[in-house]
Amino acid sequence: MPAITFIHPDGKSDRVETSDGESAMQAATRHGLDGILAECGGNAMCATCHVYVDASWLARLPAMADDEDALLDGAAAERQPASRLSCQIVITPDLDGLVLKMPERQV
Ligand code: FES
Repeated sequence: MPAITFIHPDGKSDRVETSDGESAMQAATRHGLDGILAECGGNAMCATCHVYVDASWLARLPAMADDEDALLDGAAAERQPASRLSCQIVITPDLDGLVLKMPERQV
């Protein structure tokens, strides 16, 4: 089962097991991690699942869709080149080891 690591703003990290086909957001909320609110339930409508993808992984993710791109402009924390919506990152076996940093705030 792929595992991914979430790094909190204070530097602490949580490594969570995922299920194939689950989104990174679903993995975070299933494990009760603070920092991923996911108010819209993964429908790409809220941007409260914002994450910064570790630089070594960024090029390995599929390109973002237009709706994700537009929503990130309205994220509560600063948008950066590594910004993505974790609900739009679908975990596959080749993403085992993915590292995602959580922003200071989601609202
Ligand atoms: S959970 Fe709302 S945009 Fe990702």
